[in-house]
Amino acid sequence: MTKEIQVGLIGFGTVGSGTAQVLYEQADRITKRTGASIVLKKVADICTESLPSHFTDTQLTKDAADIINDPEIDIIIELIGGTTIAKKFILDAIAKGKHVVTANKALLSTHGMEIFSAAAKNNVEIGFEASVGGGIPLIKSLKEGLVANKILTIMGIMNGTGNYILTQMTDHGTPFDEVLKDAQEKGYAEADPTYDVEGIDTAHKLVILMTMAYGMDVRLEDVRCEGITRIEPIDIEFAKEFGYRIKLLAISRNHGEHVEARVHPTLVPEKHMLANINGAYNGFYFTGDMVDNVLLYGQGAGMMPTGSAVAADVVDIARNIMHNSINRVPSLSYLPDQIQPRRITPMENIRCPYYFRFSTLDKPGVLSKISGILSKYDISIESVIQKSRKMKGSVPIVMHTYEAQEDAVEKALEEINALETTTAETVKIRVLVDDEE
Ligand code: HSE
Repeated sequence: MTKEIQVGLIGFGTVGSGTAQVLYEQADRITKRTGASIVLKKVADICTESLPSHFTDTQLTKDAADIINDPEIDIIIELIGGTTIAKKFILDAIAKGKHVVTANKALLSTHGMEIFSAAAKNNVEIGFEASVGGGIPLIKSLKEGLVANKILTIMGIMNGTGNYILTQMTDHGTPFDEVLKDAQEKGYAEADPTYDVEGIDTAHKLVILMTMAYGMDVRLEDVRCEGITRIEPIDIEFAKEFGYRIKLLAISRNHGEHVEARVHPTLVPEKHMLANINGAYNGFYFTGDMVDNVLLYGQGAGMMPTGSAVAADVVDIARNIMHNSINRVPSLSYLPDQIQPRRITPMENIRCPYYFRFSTLDKPGVLSKISGILSKYDISIESVIQKSRKMKGSVPIVMHTYEAQEDAVEKALEEINALETTTAETVKIRVLVDDEE
């Protein structure tokens, strides 16, 4: 016999209406796959005056409390975003014994531990597949498909807006500001794109993934975060000459005692899978000690893909309700008492090859002065490009180094930037080592 599971949705914006649409359009399929009928009983939104006409039995309210206090509702979907009211609604819902599904990465990456411990105490589930990677089922992959692996590396292009901008810059040589403006006019980028272009949205997602991959209590402030606003078409061109594409990557490597946590523009070898994820697409690349490399690729945002992820969480919880198996799979993959603090690798200890673009006067001896300073700090050059291309009275000298340590690089660049012949601050971009080679 089909069991009815009643659901309430708070927030009827893009993702909220997409979720409602997915639940409506896929209702029969979901019932055939679960034996449950998911009933969207109520929707709360302060700006919505009416629901699409096919939601005949769904009540619309302006007050989220109407949903949170409804004893018939088992699952609350929070899709208003933000870290204040959303947090209150979620904690209130948990206190009432409701399961919660959310796409709120900002909230989970800053107050996640409070929310997950409240959920554990009340024996309810938190579904958050939609918070990372939109429609790509990667949270489930980490929790279930990769459960028998120690995760060694998490890498990814986790922000569609940033990737769209870099792809446009790469394909057309257009400067960052112009691409951003165009993307905003076309509605691809937010009016305030700070979170996307400064890497903050990517850092939110990395925090959630690290928590689940390593069973680690990690916070947003642990992630070193640099955005793409300083990337210039000339760097994209030089990177191409060296055989690389520039991508905004999240990178975390598990060194056992400590783990890396960083988001920054990166030169990715052009044959690497991640170098070929273009436009607004996302790619998540995990390495497990048993499975080796896994790449998950797809739409990291958007109304229907994200709605699909929210609906999948609702279905998981509905199945667990029906089979009396709440928290059969721990929300964070590890059991709550197994989530431990771990040390973050200090940024100054990171080792990788580097790309440098020095802006210098075109005078004899400049190159040897720069290489002298690099050699003093044990930074070895792999290749150099120097063209007589004039840039505002100076010439670019571009270098690709062998692996070097971040603190040595910082010190060397400080000295080079202080040279009389240096005309602008050196551009430094870290280079990804292709583990597959
Ligand atoms: N703004 C994000 C992106 C989607 O551009 O990928 C939501 O995290």
